[in-house]
Amino acid sequence: MKVAILGFGVVGSGVAEVLERNADRVEKACGFPVEVARILDIRDFEGHKYQRIITKNFEEILGDDSIETVVETMGGVNPAFEFVSRSLAKGKNVVSSNKELVATRGYELLELARQNNVNFMFEAAVGGGIPIIRPISRCLAGNNITEVAGILNGTSNFILTKMIVDGMSFGEALALAQEKGYAEKDPTADVEGIDAMRKICILASLAFGHHVYPEGIFTEGISGITLEDVAYAADFDCVIKLIAKAKKVQDGRILVMVSPCLVKKSSMLSGVSGVFNACLVRGDMTGDILMYGKGAGSLATASAVVGDIIDCAGHSDNRKIFGWDDKKDDYLEDHLNCDSSLYVRVRGESEAEIHRAVDSVFGEVTYLKREGADDREAAFVTAPARERALFEKLEATGLDIISTIRVADY
Ligand code: HSE
Repeated sequence: MKVAILGFGVVGSGVAEVLERNADRVEKACGFPVEVARILDIRDFEGHKYQRIITKNFEEILGDDSIETVVETMGGVNPAFEFVSRSLAKGKNVVSSNKELVATRGYELLELARQNNVNFMFEAAVGGGIPIIRPISRCLAGNNITEVAGILNGTSNFILTKMIVDGMSFGEALALAQEKGYAEKDPTADVEGIDAMRKICILASLAFGHHVYPEGIFTEGISGITLEDVAYAADFDCVIKLIAKAKKVQDGRILVMVSPCLVKKSSMLSGVSGVFNACLVRGDMTGDILMYGKGAGSLATASAVVGDIIDCAGHSDNRKIFGWDDKKDDYLEDHLNCDSSLYVRVRGESEAEIHRAVDSVFGEVTYLKREGADDREAAFVTAPARERALFEKLEATGLDIISTIRVADY
């Protein structure tokens, strides 16, 4: 089977390497060899071993009927959407690692694949090398999935780990993540939760059946997290993690959101450190399942792409029936209408005054301690209640709110 790779960057070059290094295993799985016939990239690769097959012209790939499967590893929506949709319309399978493309245009592309009796697959778009899409759509299909929650961004998890374990500030940890090549030069999508939000939109669409588009999804990143928060969290026997979650709530609606959370040290998610990712799936038959591994990186992500290529082999006789319906009105619940427990750090005139104000509004809360805290600040954790009510109560204390972080219940 001949494949073409669109975008010869970190993931695209990894796909070529995996196909070359593990050619015999791939051949065994497919029943025939897989050959990289063309590579599309706007850059020059003078003297590169693939130079002969690299082109800047997509039409050469589209017009080559011997190419059955197109691998899209370009990232971004444009021109990826155009190239992917034209490939599908031409009767080619497409395998993509592009979470932004799937989160924003996934439903259209799945429809186009269905109409043309080809596959559109994207295991690599969520969790890099960790199998997540296939387990949710296939292995767990006998479950009513009630929640999917995970640490889906390696860069932000690396930064938080450095803050927790090594006492680095957010800025120092971010600089180290950039130095190590984890974070982009512009790290906004990683540290502000946007990358994790795109991934949870894909998982929510898959687990619950209707496309969840990124617009309007509540997304809070980690740039406001301080070492003081980390210390208070430790006193509550927790670590701070960026959690992306999608959950069935009241009246058939679902809650999809991304925010930092205090996670109990006894939770499976608390031990997910550094650039690793993990995804927890709560099924009514299985209970909780945790998938864990490398959520980014060239070869790990390429491994997921190659798995999809193998699944596409055989093409029209082997169409994978998976996907979801288009968006539904009144489907997404506002996080303010859902229950949470909140960690809060406040400032006031004195500790006694803070306690008086908090106790009179909230009743019983759990106060936390940290070394070096001055007398005019306090931190506490509330009992679970509607988020809207919790934020209204906070306002009613009249105190300066320094930070609020949700407390996870897994
Ligand atoms: N920037 C992403 C991360 C890469 O840090 O997890 C994989 O999507």
